[in-house]
Amino acid sequence: MSKAPASWASVRCDRTPAWTALQQHFEDQGRGFDLRQAFAQDPERAAHFSQRAPHLLADLSKNLLSRQTETLLFELAEQCGILAHRDAMFAGQAINTTEQRQVMHFLLRQPRGTGAGQAWEQELEQVHHTLDAMLAFAEQVRADPEITTVVNIGIGGSDLGPHMATQALQAFKVPGKRFVFVSNVDGHELDAVLQGLDARHTLFLIASKTFTTAETMTNARSARRWFEAQLGEDAQALLPQRFAALTTNVQGAAEFGIRTTFGFWDWVGGRYSVMSAIGLPLAISIGAAHFRQFLAGAHAMDQHFLTQAPAHNLPLRLGLLDVWYRNFHGFASRNVAPYHSFLGRWAAYLQQLEMESNGKRVDRAGQVLPFETAPLVWGEPGTLGQHAFFQLLHQGSQTVPVEFVAVKKAAHGLAGHHSQLLANALAQAQALMLGRSDAGGHRHFPGNRPSSFLLLDKLDSASLGALIALQEHRVFVSGSVWGINSFDQWGVELGKVLARDIEPRLASGDLAGLDASTAALVQALRS
Ligand code: F6P
Repeated sequence: MSKAPASWASVRCDRTPAWTALQQHFEDQGRGFDLRQAFAQDPERAAHFSQRAPHLLADLSKNLLSRQTETLLFELAEQCGILAHRDAMFAGQAINTTEQRQVMHFLLRQPRGTGAGQAWEQELEQVHHTLDAMLAFAEQVRADPEITTVVNIGIGGSDLGPHMATQALQAFKVPGKRFVFVSNVDGHELDAVLQGLDARHTLFLIASKTFTTAETMTNARSARRWFEAQLGEDAQALLPQRFAALTTNVQGAAEFGIRTTFGFWDWVGGRYSVMSAIGLPLAISIGAAHFRQFLAGAHAMDQHFLTQAPAHNLPLRLGLLDVWYRNFHGFASRNVAPYHSFLGRWAAYLQQLEMESNGKRVDRAGQVLPFETAPLVWGEPGTLGQHAFFQLLHQGSQTVPVEFVAVKKAAHGLAGHHSQLLANALAQAQALMLGRSDAGGHRHFPGNRPSSFLLLDKLDSASLGALIALQEHRVFVSGSVWGINSFDQWGVELGKVLARDIEPRLASGDLAGLDASTAALVQALRS
């Protein structure tokens, strides 16, 4: 990928020569590609499609692509200006064009003092200023025996990232404290959490980039009412120590009555915010040193994405593979299979990252695209999925690429468990690929079903940071090929507006202007 294209925004992917070449290549070799033959013909296949990246090993060899496929995909990336787009993001250009914002979540993990001459030099100073303050607060909470429960109230990016990461890194959790995440406006969730809590010993973190999100504000107000009711006349004195806000809207937090606020900036997208102040519950759980390792792992992956040649650039390879599967093979979903119980929220986290970023049918200029974009992302930790939906993955009528995540070293000492777990992960990937043809009918496994395998040395702060950055950048790559703005989310607006219209009707019974189905449901709810 030697030549820089004129501009990262100039060419639609399906109008490039590489796209046409990939279509022809798919007809010639892609459609009938057989993994078993590919391995038989190329003794170097496993090595060629495996690589190291910071904190992990990736084996992409069980995917339905040849060296030629990948060469053509790299040409597509070049012709679409993907690396120029990447460089524009890292240079601090406003690549979120529909909102005129920079996209600089990479800055959250950029080491201090490395901004000289960069457009974001000042922002980097602010990042470290806030990070120091937030980590000092985290250490203070960790050392405070009076606080035994930390309740994070937030939704979407203000919940999924910190929730996933706090659960993933629970092996490093501070003893004596419980971490709870309340997200849904469904009062059953908050009510169940508040039962049995002691307000005096509970710290509430109100996490919201905008500090206007309806669910979070409703939960935050209810938490404050509960706090005041439980503590009576002591509430006013204790409230400033027991409520903190994580937000870009410092004024909104102040108006709510919160005095301790950790800010961030509009150039951090909600689903890219786990390494900002939104990561505070994680920082309290694992401590400042681990949190800094978390950032360092992500930074290592940023550098990998920025500096590695395409042939060894893992986010680029994965993002292009996603395009190959979606637009040429026509695969509509990707299953994610983390073989580690602590990654129980991995699929939920990736769903927002991928589908809120790239679940769009128009390009940056708002023009409808004539090709498919983001796949559905779904999954469960292994081996649970094996006893649920793996049937479909092995013998169903559609092909679903699987992305395994496994961890070499366990954080427990129970004999036999980890080798059984790892053997299952390997066996599933193998079975998907090899299939079984010695039996017919119900017992036949067609095989040739693709998977990638990401292997971490251990699940620790640095490797999780790297894994997150890997996913962020692979989503960037596919979104960039498709020419969409991966950093806005207009598709979430309409439902919010309509909910605001419907809510008073549930009380008033006013059905005027409603469609017949919604009107009937409102009536049923009121009867
Ligand atoms: O669901 C839409 C969304 O805006 C997400 O992008 C975001 O992560 C979430 O709501 C929460 O937003 P906030 O952090 O502003 O409360």
